[in-house]
Amino acid sequence: MTRVLAIETSCDETAVAIVNNRDVLSNLVASQIEIHQPYGGIVPEVASRQHVETVNELVDTALKQAKITWADLDGVAATAAPGLIGALLVGLTTAKTLALLHNKPFLGVHHLEGHIYASYLSHPDLQPPFLCLLVSGGHTSLIYVKDCGHYETLGSTRDDAAGEAFDKVARLLDLGYPGGPVIDRLAQQGNPTAFPLPEGQVSLPTGGFHPYDSSFSGLKTAMLRLIDKLRQQGDLPVTDLAASFQATVARALTKRAIACALDYGLDTIAVGGGVAANSGLRQTLQAAAAPHRLRVLFPPLKYCTDNAAMIACAAAEHLQRGHQSPLSLGARSRMPITAVMQLYNP
Ligand code: KG4
Ligand code: ZN
Repeated sequence: MTRVLAIETSCDETAVAIVNNRDVLSNLVASQIEIHQPYGGIVPEVASRQHVETVNELVDTALKQAKITWADLDGVAATAAPGLIGALLVGLTTAKTLALLHNKPFLGVHHLEGHIYASYLSHPDLQPPFLCLLVSGGHTSLIYVKDCGHYETLGSTRDDAAGEAFDKVARLLDLGYPGGPVIDRLAQQGNPTAFPLPEGQVSLPTGGFHPYDSSFSGLKTAMLRLIDKLRQQGDLPVTDLAASFQATVARALTKRAIACALDYGLDTIAVGGGVAANSGLRQTLQAAAAPHRLRVLFPPLKYCTDNAAMIACAAAEHLQRGHQSPLSLGARSRMPITAVMQLYNP
């Protein structure tokens, strides 16, 4: 039994959670979406200030909801990288201070390892090796999960992340921020074959295309041109545009994930990140995986988008393996997932 309290402040959600290994005792998320909405995206300085205002109260509430005290906790964790540097520093400094005050081990956690651990929360029997398709606002990666702390990136995006593409296309259609959920809702009423769109392939210098890398900038440009043309013609079929765009993204991600799992002999694809909530991706990937007897795991929505339960779960496993971070650990805006073990004492 390893009980960990974790703080996640890498972007625009202030989140605090307590887990007992893969069992969630409390999971709080204070969303800042409404605060950033007027700006059409996240304003880093505003996010940091908001984290400072919210985090302490969330820590108190998390302990109350879990019905435990500091004496019952085995460690305190926070997301250390990657993310908005000022935002990360708020959670990291709070966690370090609490660890020092209550004499508990401190652990810095890699945000993407957290997204991988979201699948362990909803499927506690899951064991590596497996493939993780990580699709969020900032990342689109195919990660070979070998063991806790040990990962290999097999594919990634060359430009926009999948969630970023949803957000940008939603902006083109004046649908507000964040775009993913709105496009998903509209797509369900539209025709996914109404407009043929480019899936975006990444050329290899040796000829041919990269089997696992993706690119969404060409798709975004195609959408921009198409929307301009349709606007000039005075007819903007928003549901058909949303459905065609979503189907193209879902197809691109599905093709790559299935090829990757089959090539590496992995029988499970665990999906994580905000775009894992997408209904088109869920249907397309499940349908394509079935004939290959590949298992596809989608965590529930609350664990797909940013949350602290996934961070606490990753930290609990590291702590069980004797890993701890020094209190001198800094926040890093960028850090590849292959560098996770740099967060812990040798
Ligand atoms: O994982 P997440 O909460 O934050 C990051 O770490 O980036 O992902 C947020 C992203 C946003 O781009 C949002 O538009 C997208 O996930 N998203 C969706 C859906 N729900 C959220 N994209 C497509 N369909 C959805 N249903
Ligand atoms: Zn995230």
